[in-house]
Amino acid sequence: MALARPRHAWISQRCPELSATSADRRGMRCIVKNCGRLADGRVKTMRGLGIGTVLEAAPGSAFKPGDAVSGPFGWTEFAVMKEKDLEPLKLGPGIQVLDYLNTLGSSGLTAYFGLKDVGKIKAGETLLVSGAAGSVGAIVCQLGKKLGAKVYAIAGTPDKCEWLEKELGVVKAFNYKSPTFAKDLRAMGYLDVFFDNVGGEILDLALTRLNQGARIVMCGAISGYSRFLCRFSLLAY
Ligand SMILES: NC(=O)c1ccc[n+]([C@@H]2O[C@H](COP(=O)([O-])OP(=O)(O)OC[C@H]3O[C@@H](n4cnc5c(N)ncnc54)[C@H](OP(=O)(O)O)[C@@H]3O)[C@@H](O)[C@H]2O)c1
Repeated sequence: MALARPRHAWISQRCPELSATSADRRGMRCIVKNCGRLADGRVKTMRGLGIGTVLEAAPGSAFKPGDAVSGPFGWTEFAVMKEKDLEPLKLGPGIQVLDYLNTLGSSGLTAYFGLKDVGKIKAGETLLVSGAAGSVGAIVCQLGKKLGAKVYAIAGTPDKCEWLEKELGVVKAFNYKSPTFAKDLRAMGYLDVFFDNVGGEILDLALTRLNQGARIVMCGAISGYSRFLCRFSLLAY
């Protein structure tokens, strides 16, 4: 294959593992809208974070063939990458490469820093998590519990609510599709930290349940990702 390789460029492993998150819905929508092509007719690669293995490295590189790396490869088998866009993966005891797509990847980092640095959660406080059965939300629930918070969760099916209560151990999980959702949530009382992944009507409701001094982690607004006018999902802010 004739491939022009800029200095400090790498080719990732064949079939790298990819993370597919709710935010990718927006990328897919753009690609579908343009039939997968740019205005000049070139095929566009769907964006996406992934993990892979270095196949070739430019001279003088800090990387070598066989190194495990993560980066924004896009949904593709091979990618030529700049060094600054790649993260080397450290595989200590008990750590698998795939962990870098979840707990040690962007989902885990988002959950950890959102809850600790933005939410400033403290033991004994009440934490409410929307999108709680998703990749970020499920980690937030577990970290919140570990940090001594009373954790309440919101998800969209009875199965997910049961999993959140029985497996992750949240105090109560509310099904936002239930006709009694608003009443059920009010029974929780008031909250100190709202970790919001979805925005929209759930956010509107949560804003009426804040204790004095409460913090809101504006992580995302999934309820608007499938719409063209995403601003509606953050109207309440
Ligand atoms: N993953 C990351 O690395 C990352 C990094 C930075 C920021 N974020 C942001 O964090 C948020 C969560 O991402 P994620 O990766 O955890 O998502 P995810 O794993 O894809 O989970 C999303 C969940 O949201 C729920 N949902 C979908 N539409 C909804 C709606 N209209 N109203 C309420 N809930 C809805 C669905 O569960 P139900 O069945 O419960 O409805 C879905 O499973 C997103 O806003 C994303 O942009 C993610």
